[in-house]
Amino acid sequence: MEVIIAPDRHKAALLVARIVAKELRADPRLVLGLATGRTMERVYACLVDLHRGEGLDFSVCSTFNLDEYIGIPADHPCSYRRYMDEHLFAQVNVAPGRTHLPDGMAPDLGAECRRYESLIQAAGGIGLQLLGIGSDGHIGFNEPLSALRSRTREKALTPSTLEQNAPMFGGDPAAVPRRAITMGVGTILDSRRCLMLVTGESKAAILAKAVEGPITSMVTASALQLHPRCQVVVDEEAAAHL
Ligand code: GLP
Repeated sequence: MEVIIAPDRHKAALLVARIVAKELRADPRLVLGLATGRTMERVYACLVDLHRGEGLDFSVCSTFNLDEYIGIPADHPCSYRRYMDEHLFAQVNVAPGRTHLPDGMAPDLGAECRRYESLIQAAGGIGLQLLGIGSDGHIGFNEPLSALRSRTREKALTPSTLEQNAPMFGGDPAAVPRRAITMGVGTILDSRRCLMLVTGESKAAILAKAVEGPITSMVTASALQLHPRCQVVVDEEAAAHL
């Protein structure tokens, strides 16, 4: 695990976007794993700038998002599909048929999880996986006590995650869906390269646990210590406890 400390959150996001751009230029058919959350908004803004300013081409890449809420439709203002459309997909030349998120409205959620895993395999596996970290140390929605070999499945969200994501749902934790479909920790670890972005003072303590603490299912981001090619880009605020 390589930790790169950038002076501030903007430079950290720009560095992550530049790493994505370099991979994409080297392999235009890249299979890109995507993450949501406020931290990632800056990365997507930088990628949109690179598309507009430098012609960064997304036309033949494929994308797979980490997770999606269960029980809200794709066009719900808080769905992750909607987030991705707004922040990236509608602003670059990615082919709509090549963007993938789990379907949180599928009638058979178990079958949907298996379908999503098979789609990733059929695409040749994820080349570069972007990740953020939840306040409880989750990656995707792999909440504490997620098995480190887990695959895409349904997961109940913890009270701390409901609280963390409440601002997107009008500030009310009760409005946040209680369950989500998420790639498993094992699914994420199968990616050929992982790139986690962590910014802000509020993430400093959990980042230190993930990077320097024991590998534990209580902090699923710590499983990234097992990955042969994982970089963690942080700003100085998030690095405060390292
Ligand atoms: C959600 C997502 C995670 C993301 C986390 C961080 O919980 N499922 O993949 O890492 O948010 O969010 P933020 O960047 O808003 O702190």
